[in-house]
Amino acid sequence: MSLESEIRQLREERDAVLLAHNYQRGEIQDLADYVGDSLYLSRKAMESDRSVIVFAGVRFMAETAKILNPSRTVLLPDLKAGCALADAITVEQLRAWKAEHPGAVVVAYINTSAEVKAEADYCCTSSNAVKIVEQIPKDREILFLPDMFLGDYVRRRTGRAMHLWVGDCPVHAKLRPETLAHSRADHPGAPVIAHPECGCASQVLPQVDQVLSTDGMLRYAEETRAPEVLVATEVGILHRMAKLNPTTHFSPIDAGAVCPYMKEITLEDIRDSLRELRYRIDVAPEVAEKARRALERMVAA
Ligand code: 13P
Ligand code: SF4
Repeated sequence: MSLESEIRQLREERDAVLLAHNYQRGEIQDLADYVGDSLYLSRKAMESDRSVIVFAGVRFMAETAKILNPSRTVLLPDLKAGCALADAITVEQLRAWKAEHPGAVVVAYINTSAEVKAEADYCCTSSNAVKIVEQIPKDREILFLPDMFLGDYVRRRTGRAMHLWVGDCPVHAKLRPETLAHSRADHPGAPVIAHPECGCASQVLPQVDQVLSTDGMLRYAEETRAPEVLVATEVGILHRMAKLNPTTHFSPIDAGAVCPYMKEITLEDIRDSLRELRYRIDVAPEVAEKARRALERMVAA
């Protein structure tokens, strides 16, 4: 039996749903029940009536699934699938930052630990960060964390004076204005779509046609009639872009933009995860209780 068939069979036996992020390996995306960005997958996890949720993504996504749907067994097939951006702020650092700004509203990107989310007023993803910040009364001070590039982008879009935590995603931060300039010179006339975590997203906004979440980029890819599009994000997304629109050529601005965490999970890991029911992701009930309020605001926006 092929590995894929084995996974399909185990998935039924375990009453499991397989969720995969847009940066996962192509073969995992092809096998998943749902593929999407962080917001879409959070909603799918929350709505799931299956006993088991296998999360082909990174740890903070699996934790979010557990918080939003606590009665399910949530599995992360490889515990090395972390996130450097989520590691950029600890709960102790956040508490100290809040103490410096008493009364400030805390907006935490979904790329954070459950403990950090528990200290936040709102969570957001790249697809609704602007909308979330626009909900906050104008007279309130805002702490935005942990991605300074996304934060700067949101600050420019909303005109709000937010304090930004100085953290970044190493995969996206290296996509600098110079990277974009080189790529544009090699592909004259091609439109550019960029993820807001990119080091180039906010600084060279006029040169970027659209700043979008990964699902936003996929919608753009499906609809465009341009012969070529330049893509500024992790290269795993190119797999579905090519399938959704075979007549457009999608070129990464940097073919080396590969997230090592997102690539930890393999088909073998998913098979073993279903077989052994590992690795279970649990969140302490008191942390989950506090984090749920901020996450529910995120999924509702
Ligand atoms: P999206 O929500 O846009 O999929 O982003 C998640 C992520 O980790 C980007 O690096
Ligand atoms: Fe984290 Fe960056 Fe990887 Fe996204 S691409 S999971 S932010 S390290």
